[in-house]
Amino acid sequence: MQVEYTAAHSQPDGSERTSMQELGHNAINPLAEPCVKVFIHKTHIISMIYPFEGVKPRIHETAYVAKNATVVGNVEIGAHSSIWPGAVLRGDLSFITIGRYTSIQDNCVIHVEGSLSDPSTGSPAVIGNYCTIGHGALLHGCIIGERVLIGAHAAVFNNARIGDGSILGMGCVISDNKEIPSRRVVVGIPGRIVREVTEEEWTRSKAHAELYAELAEKYKKIL
Ligand SMILES: CC(C)(COP(=O)(O)OP(=O)(O)OC[C@H]1O[C@@H](n2cnc3c(N)ncnc32)[C@H](O)[C@@H]1OP(=O)(O)O)[C@@H](O)C(=O)NCCC(=O)NCCS
Repeated sequence: MQVEYTAAHSQPDGSERTSMQELGHNAINPLAEPCVKVFIHKTHIISMIYPFEGVKPRIHETAYVAKNATVVGNVEIGAHSSIWPGAVLRGDLSFITIGRYTSIQDNCVIHVEGSLSDPSTGSPAVIGNYCTIGHGALLHGCIIGERVLIGAHAAVFNNARIGDGSILGMGCVISDNKEIPSRRVVVGIPGRIVREVTEEEWTRSKAHAELYAELAEKYKKIL
């Protein structure tokens, strides 16, 4: 069976028409049999932001959450922060706080530890201002300071703490209760400190966070 992808175009009267309907035939291959159409309606993607046990996410009006990111329950997202496609933030057994100008990049997972009977006793996930949380990273019930770079696919677990300005390399693993002081570069599994963060890296951390805030403003208009 052939699957055809086609975009929807908004019409002046508010209705939507597809390029298929406009052309009246299979736009990819006019000789093909009728096929299954998968419509991509920019305006109709269902947002995945929803409450858990009556607690709704609180998202600052200047923050960006991609329509295909999932944000559930007790989650607070600060001004100019951004949550990119495929990211999952699940504030159910405890809470999640994201500071200002922090990017949670594509396919990150942020979850918490705790119990259903008393969510106040759990391990929340708290992420500071001007952080970059790289693609596919996993942050679970941990505390991340300010201007921290978490490399792509790194993982930080329950009650671990990462100090301000530190950098975790791609794929680095920080297990439960570990503490990384401020401005350290950490790589490997388990994560080990290899050096101090340079002045240039410290400066770049804020600039990069601001760049992402600017990028997010553009994406806010399209997805
Ligand atoms: C950790 C990091 C900052 C190190 O940068 P760097 O200082 O320029 O690194 P170098 O290439 O000079 O490597 C220094 C040493 O660390 C090792 N290393 C670097 N990154 C590593 C990683 N992710 N895991 C394991 N070892 C790593 C290098 O092999 C090298 O080892 P050696 O001294 O034994 O040869 C960088 O490699 C990194 O992982 N950045 C994260 C990028 C990212 O994911 N951004 C998020 C998306 S925007």
